[in-house]
Amino acid sequence: MTIRAVVRGIGHYLPDNIVENSAFEATLDTSDEWIKARSGIERRHFAAEGQTTSDLAIRAANAALSDAGLVADDIDAILVATSTPDLTFPAVATMVQAGLGMTRGFCFDVQAVCAGFIFALANANALIVSGQAKRVMVIGAETFSRIMDWTDRGTCVLFGDGAGALILEASEGSGTTDDRGILSTDLHSDGRHRDILYVDGGVSSNQCSGVLRMQGKEVFRHAIEKLAQTAHDALEKVGLSGADVDWVVPHQANLRIINGTAQRMGVSMDHVIVTVQDHGNTSAASVPLALSVAKSAGQLKPGQLIVTEAIGGGLAWGAVVLRW
Ligand code: UT7
Repeated sequence: MTIRAVVRGIGHYLPDNIVENSAFEATLDTSDEWIKARSGIERRHFAAEGQTTSDLAIRAANAALSDAGLVADDIDAILVATSTPDLTFPAVATMVQAGLGMTRGFCFDVQAVCAGFIFALANANALIVSGQAKRVMVIGAETFSRIMDWTDRGTCVLFGDGAGALILEASEGSGTTDDRGILSTDLHSDGRHRDILYVDGGVSSNQCSGVLRMQGKEVFRHAIEKLAQTAHDALEKVGLSGADVDWVVPHQANLRIINGTAQRMGVSMDHVIVTVQDHGNTSAASVPLALSVAKSAGQLKPGQLIVTEAIGGGLAWGAVVLRW
């Protein structure tokens, strides 16, 4: 008997405030045309004043519970992927636990920046297949608007806020790739590249929260190369290839990266979920947001093969293959 971590429910939340590209033209030497042409981004959501990452995460978590037909105490563990926590500690996951009224189980945060949801998904899968938990809620939630340098046109037009939550549940499988649930995971990091994408503040350095700094071109170069490779490797681990994939659900950072990765994987854009135009780059929230929006639009159907991938600061990157 093989234990599989199968998707039981999914949900998302986007703050009400939608900011179009043109809004940046008043304060920066930029244009809607440039942002669209170079990134594919048209608009993004920003959290309201006082609205925190845990507020967004709790909304997404409640949506996922309702989709799954479960209540909070049915969940054994909550993992929140975020780089924009409410406080230095405790973990956002414990704030979500309290916000949901969940009185049991265990909760912790995962910090792998834009790849955070992929890393959290792989950890949740490990908890389930090792028998430590039967149901795990995996959340990606971010308020990147809080760490922008609003004078840096190379970064502040690219990011947005939001949250997505997915509930995984232990289920018996046959051990073949016909099983529903997570079939393989592939994780990497390379700290030699930590200075091409980072936040210039922190507890033990300057006691500030800091703002995001990025060498966009360098990150772009790594992304194109590493995302296709990790997706290929995750598929190859279980004897599958790009030709078997129904949907690629990529990290939503840049449409040119999404196109380039799909091309390298040999997957046509008809099989790629794209939400970057409406969300911008929401870091760890981008993949669960894309999955949830695609599910709501009726694009994801039970039994379909999905490969999801992401890369971000660290660098950290990886992919997960799952059957919906
Ligand atoms: O989620 C984590 C991973 N992050 C990413 O995946 C982001 C990866 N990088 C990218 O998406 C792209 O590199 C960017 C969208 C950030 C930039 O696109 P690019 O095609 O690499 O442009 P560039 O950085 O080479 O800049 C080209 C020009 C520069 O001007 P000069 O030096 O040629 O005169 C920039 O100063 O565009 C200028 N520029 C802008 N112009 C108008 C940079 N930002 C802007 C802007 N509006 N917002």
